[in-house]
Parts: sequence; C-alpha cells; structure tokens
Amino acid sequence: MSELIRLEGISKVLKGQKEPRTILDGVDLTVRAGESVAIVGRSGSGKSTLLSVLGLFDRPDSGTYQLAGRDISRLRERHAAKLRSSHFGFVFQRFFLLKHLTAAQNVAMALINGQGWLPRRERRTRVMRALEQVGIEHLAKNRPAKMSGGEQQRVAIARALVRDPRILLADEPTGALDTETGSIVISALQEATTRGCALILVTHDRDHAARMGRILDLQAGILTERAPALSVNGPTAQLPSLGGPA
Ligand SMILES: Nc1ncnc2c1ncn2[C@@H]1O[C@H](COP(=O)(O)OP(=O)(O)OP(=O)(O)O)[C@@H](O)[C@H]1O
Ligand SMILES: [Mg+2]
Repeated sequence: MSELIRLEGISKVLKGQKEPRTILDGVDLTVRAGESVAIVGRSGSGKSTLLSVLGLFDRPDSGTYQLAGRDISRLRERHAAKLRSSHFGFVFQRFFLLKHLTAAQNVAMALINGQGWLPRRERRTRVMRALEQVGIEHLAKNRPAKMSGGEQQRVAIARALVRDPRILLADEPTGALDTETGSIVISALQEATTRGCALILVTHDRDHAARMGRILDLQAGILTERAPALSVNGPTAQLPSLGGPA
C-alpha cells in the first residue's frame, strides 16, 4: 500500500512564560494506506499534540511532514484547511453532535462544510453509506438524545467518514464509553482500514491498542515503535461484528 504520512524529526516546542518546553522531540513516523496505528503513552506525553500536527491544526517547529509525497511542513492555514477536509477525518472523546439535528443531518453537516452543497440526492446517498459503514443506518432519523453513547460516537465516526478521508485521526474515541461499547466503536473505526483508509488511534486502552496493526509509544515527546506481538492470525483476527444496537 502507498505511503500516506511521513514525519521526520518533528519537534514541537511550547514557548511558555518561563522555559520553552519540548512537547514533541524528533518524532519519526511513516503510515501507509490501510494501516492501523495505535499511539499510547502517559497523560501529558504529547499524544494529542502529535495528532494536531498530523491533522494540520498545528505546525511543527522543526522537522518535515510529507503527506502523500508532498512536503506540507510549512503550510499556510488556508491550504491546511483544504487538506484537512480533503484528507482527514477526526474523531474525539466527546462526540460533538448537534443535538437538534438527526443522525443523518449531523453526518450531512460534514459535506456541507467541506465541499459546498452537493446535490440533495448524492448527499443522501453518501450520508446513508457512511451510517451503514458504522452499522447504524436504522438510526438515521434519531436525534442524539435518543441514542446510546456508542451510537452517538458511531454517528461522529460516520461524520468523519462521509468525505472519504484517506486518514482517520481518533483521539481517545472510547474514553467516554464502557468496555463493550468501546469495542464496537473500535471495530467501526477499524472497518475503514479495509477500504484503504489509514487509522491513527490514540488510546489508553491496551486491548484496543493491541487490535491495531502497530503500537507506538510516546514518552515525553519521544516516539518509539513496539515490537509487534506474535500472533498467528494477525492483529485483526477476533473482531466483534458491527451492526445492531449497541
Ligand atoms: N495549549 C497549550 N498550552 C500549554 N501547554 C500545553 C498546551 N497544549 C498542550 N500542552 C502541554 O503539552 C503537553 C502534552 O500535551 P498533550 O495534550 O499532547 O498530552 P496527551 O498525551 O494528549 O495527554 P492526555 O493523555 O492527558 O490527553 C502537556 O504537558 C500539556 O500540559
Ligand atoms: Mg490527549
């Protein structure tokens, strides 16, 4: 599969009131299409900062960032915003759904903001496909208040998927969910990798990390790759199936 992301020597320094603090310290990372990568590490180790650099919300202070072969290390915000909506999908611990809109309308919002108004019919097709991809098409007309936490998070994932991102960035997407529901949400994210999307998952949950193809450890801004676990069937062997109410 083709290389999507290449970080080389990425550093991020916070210039606070006192001493500057190094948050990311020479991070190297390569991610290919269809790969799933877990980023683990203690609170404050820089995981969310790394995701915000990857997702072009923030620029590195040094190092290079190549996206699909193009150097984007020093991109202006206008171009960064375009790349964000064309290449990335974001999922966070909080679902950030609009409560007065249905599931389908929440997902459709991503299309309106990112690509102008698509014809109504195409919009509907894409929204329903995204809801199907996370197994909640039957909830299309429900509002968030009538959904479980796992269902709401799957709406948020559908909203991230509806623009066909090449990279999904998820920052503790199961942090607000119980174990079983969290597992279903991880399956929904992982499913996107079967269509060639790369998944980068920040998680505190060891079991969820173990289901990714690779595990990277961030400690005080230094990223190291863990040796792959020995598994006959590979990391995606025993996934709970999607679908059905959570
Ligand atoms: N805007 C900011 N201003 C000041 N310090 C910040 C800011 N953002 C992050 N930091 C600091 O940078 C460090 C890394 O933060 P980051 O949010 O990336 O950690 P994290 O690994 O995501 O932690 P957690 O697991 O708690 O979410 C922390 O020490 C944090 O206090
Ligand atoms: Mg964080």
